Amino acid sequence: MNIQEEAHRSLARLRPWLLRLFKDDAAAWPIFEARLDAGFPRLFELLISLYGTHYDFFYHLEALLKTAAHAHLERTPTLRALDVEREGSGARWYQSEKQVAGVCYVDLYATDLAGIRARIPYLKELGLTYLHLMPLFKAPAGNSDGGYAVSSFREVNPALGTMDQLAALAAELRAEGISLALDLVFNHTSDEHEWALRAKAGDKDYQAFYRMFPDRTLPDQYERTLREVFPEQAPGNFTFVPEVGQWVWTTFNTFQWDLNYANPAVFDAMLGEMLFLANRGVQILRLDAVAFVWKEIGTTSENLPQAHWIIEALNILVKLAAPATIFKSEAIVHPDDVAKYIGRECEISYHPTLMVLLWEALATHEVRLLRHTLAKRFVIPENAAWVNYIRLHDDIGWSFANEDAAELGIDGEAHRNFLNAFYTGQFPGSYARGLPFNYNPRTGDMRISGMAASLNGLETALENHDDAQIELSIARYLLIQGLTLAAGGIPLLYLNDELGALNDYSYRNDPAHAGDSRWVHRPRFNAARWAARTDPASIAGRHYLPLLNMIHVRKAHAAFAANGYANWLESGNPYVLAVERSNIGENVLILANFSEHKQVVNGRFSAGEKPLTDLISGAEYPVEQALTLPPYGMLWLLHH
Ligand code: GLC
Ligand code: GLC
Repeated sequence: MNIQEEAHRSLARLRPWLLRLFKDDAAAWPIFEARLDAGFPRLFELLISLYGTHYDFFYHLEALLKTAAHAHLERTPTLRALDVEREGSGARWYQSEKQVAGVCYVDLYATDLAGIRARIPYLKELGLTYLHLMPLFKAPAGNSDGGYAVSSFREVNPALGTMDQLAALAAELRAEGISLALDLVFNHTSDEHEWALRAKAGDKDYQAFYRMFPDRTLPDQYERTLREVFPEQAPGNFTFVPEVGQWVWTTFNTFQWDLNYANPAVFDAMLGEMLFLANRGVQILRLDAVAFVWKEIGTTSENLPQAHWIIEALNILVKLAAPATIFKSEAIVHPDDVAKYIGRECEISYHPTLMVLLWEALATHEVRLLRHTLAKRFVIPENAAWVNYIRLHDDIGWSFANEDAAELGIDGEAHRNFLNAFYTGQFPGSYARGLPFNYNPRTGDMRISGMAASLNGLETALENHDDAQIELSIARYLLIQGLTLAAGGIPLLYLNDELGALNDYSYRNDPAHAGDSRWVHRPRFNAARWAARTDPASIAGRHYLPLLNMIHVRKAHAAFAANGYANWLESGNPYVLAVERSNIGENVLILANFSEHKQVVNGRFSAGEKPLTDLISGAEYPVEQALTLPPYGMLWLLHH
């Protein structure tokens, strides 16, 4: 019997049993059943591949379907209506040019959930349609890796509010046209999560939720092929747990215990946590650290096929119960691997390759690696969208592909060393004020922390009272943030960047944060800076007002939608990036000058007779004329 027949037979057997679960809500069954019929064959195949060798496979399969069915039954009428909309006319809503995303920490940005609620008018002013709140769950006191050590996915950190408040906030945001995104930190829990506490107390079932080892034999074998994510603050990938005398797998910090997805009970438990959040109104689940969820001896234990199967299976199950929910992939890895999580697994994905190459182009002034890479790699499955950003809460790690660089005669490793020197201000002439993050003397690897404005030279320029440099630093910001708006995909703003916020060095005085330079770019909301945003003469206003203009332009033009078409052109000028976007009969040519001098490109791009209009400034350019871009200038030229 082949797998499809087997799937068919299993479903036929399960159907009457599932139907009984719907006895109190018979109207919900046909909808659930239709989704089940569509998703089950592939789900079955994935689960067989993952867990088919378990003697109790069918028991686990039933458990998963029950988790999904119960979650669907628990879902409110409003969310079910949203499901129906997103399965119909609202499908692929995340590809729209109207989408603009923002991300912030609840505590740093607005003290608590009530504070976030009070900021909704500003989020709307900025045009946001999607808000990612950084991990806000119950977490250990002191260092919790910025909340990425979760002690309960069902409890909000009491300092920030309650789960009921979160659900109410999600509803209020939704009414304002803003989708709520939360992290589903599904590779690990904190060592204070109930599952970890039970494991420490000796409960074998919960020890099996993690990857625990009685001695160093296996850990030492694994270590031979693993890398270290945090070599400075958490060297190695295993931590001794004195309570039980065992070693537990900890890819990140010692207090972040990796979950054991080889155990189907873990898969089921995490499905339950996902659906719990989906039913609180969370529409985007950001799957944290996707690359690491499956481990095999003798491998890097990153991006293994099983990691992909797990995510795809979870997506199908989430779609059964709460199809308005989409997944966002956080894979900060080689571009080949980034791409593999997109489409069937996650509808949207961070675009770390674009992010690092925007900074790379600013440092070199040349656009060739950026253009070459994007021409090769920008296209993703048609149901998907990139999330384009310049800065976030994490470091910048130069994850472009060495092969892409080599094709242009660039030595990837040497280039990374240059970029690290440049962004830490050690390269002659550098304006940047980044800090090193996790220098690994063994591999020479290093990443960069820093706020966008500080990396762009604003901090240096302000100290030197150098108006010309201030101007250039702002132009750099508008150039690369503008490209995230125009490139195609969802632009994601790291809130505070839009006001030109600088590095915040106060983390050095906080023992819980001093060892992690990423805190330099996690500043508090600054009311004075925010109030100045509408003053065109202020530093904040000089960032904010032109950005806001570009946001409005983006939203008005379908050419910027993620499902449009991008053509990465040769501009004929090494400093000028040229990309043509088209969609629904609209063509926009984007020209971006990465040099601090003005640059000229010839007008051969314009095919028609009529003048071109720059959507950013409203200026018209006659056809056939050479186009001049100011230092770091950008044009979004609409073909009539
Ligand atoms: C993700 C987060 C990062 C965190 C890590 C471990 O990569 O973005 O901040 O340190 O996961 O959870
Ligand atoms: C590594 C991980 C990524 C994480 C980052 C945190 O790059 O791959 O998931 O965000 O470390 O620094």
